[in-house]
Amino acid sequence: MIKFTAQIDQFITSADVDQKIATAQALLPKIQSDPMAGWLDLPVNYDQDEFARIKSAAQTINQDSKYLVCIGIGGSYLGHKAIVEALKPTSPTKILYAGNSFSPIELNRTLAKLGDADFSINFISKSGTTTEAAIAFRIFKQKLIEKYGETEAYRRIYATTNSSTAALYDEAIANHYERFVVPDNLGDRYAMFAPTCLLPLAVAGVNIDEFIQGAVHEREVLLSTNGGDAAFYAAIRHCLYAKDFNIEILANFEPSFMYFNEWWKQLAGESEGKAGQGIFPAAVINTTDLHSMGQYIQDGRRNLFETIIHFAALPSDHQVPATNPNLDNLEYLQGKPLSWINQQALIATTAAHRAGGVPVLEIEIPDISAKSLGALTYFFQLSIAISGFLSDINPFDQPGVEAYKDNMFKLLGKPPSHNLS
Ligand code: PA5
Repeated sequence: MIKFTAQIDQFITSADVDQKIATAQALLPKIQSDPMAGWLDLPVNYDQDEFARIKSAAQTINQDSKYLVCIGIGGSYLGHKAIVEALKPTSPTKILYAGNSFSPIELNRTLAKLGDADFSINFISKSGTTTEAAIAFRIFKQKLIEKYGETEAYRRIYATTNSSTAALYDEAIANHYERFVVPDNLGDRYAMFAPTCLLPLAVAGVNIDEFIQGAVHEREVLLSTNGGDAAFYAAIRHCLYAKDFNIEILANFEPSFMYFNEWWKQLAGESEGKAGQGIFPAAVINTTDLHSMGQYIQDGRRNLFETIIHFAALPSDHQVPATNPNLDNLEYLQGKPLSWINQQALIATTAAHRAGGVPVLEIEIPDISAKSLGALTYFFQLSIAISGFLSDINPFDQPGVEAYKDNMFKLLGKPPSHNLS
């Protein structure tokens, strides 16, 4: 379903790539037995009762709420936001995002949008102690209680957290919030097929059966071929990195993939940026960014490579209309579909960047659908995990994110025993 191709003969030899692929494939059993690799089998091995509860909670929320305020940060919001933004599904309930910064300006805007409308909250935090999210939860919980009273407010709170130990878990039990579990054997950024993402997706109108089906299919293809294209992509990234190509730009020609880029940046950056190494993940949306970042990519320092995502088929189209007289000189495009023009821009960009010394990798997905995005996210999760193991680092932890927190908590005057993180 996911097609990965690379024309990079001018940068690395096929012998180097083959050797790296063999190393990547040999690492698969090690990845599969890692205690934090629960995401690998999640699409085929999930809690069916909980899945049914997710669907039924989504139905309830669709009936009683104009908005679902999804409170969470990092892996607790980027995954579902990426899919919702890419698919723009229709639903009676719109998703609002909160708790992903300390910005009062953002908070005010979200509160203004919410107004006096009916709403529910999905507080998503594996640890249950992340400060940005916990503060936002206090604020929106208070608003919910003021609007509905305590009993109804608590009925409208959905808590997605770990199985037994988080602060949020204790509060959910005490106040009888409906609870969904982030499995203990996976980290947030690998939680695409966990309740972390599935509840917001279902509420937003994404077909979560099809989303998971895409992952099931891709998993089958990749695992039955020793990592298949995921091992290939990981191997090429490593060969390029060894040649000092240490920045990867994920490029997309669909603006609705902006948050998909953000999710991928977290997945790659938080998994691989460790011990003084790692490819720096960047992203662009073209053709928009060809008018801003295009100059650097074409002509700047030659230490970057590009991975372009494109689609075999796209939905609704527009054709360039006729005008008379032809003052803008666009007559030569008259009647041409916009999708075709976008495709020519992609082909032209790929050729120009290759000629300019940028290794370009390509990922084709069939279309922009829940199924294809399920497949694509599974593909990336496996590729990045393999990539981390190729560098001999643990792609499932994130020790570096503690450094700023230590400083911040000193400034905030956090008492030593307090458990917010
Ligand atoms: O992917 C990760 O592990 C992080 O980005 C976390 O998602 C983020 O720090 C939020 O953590 P939590 O879900 O515990 O609130």
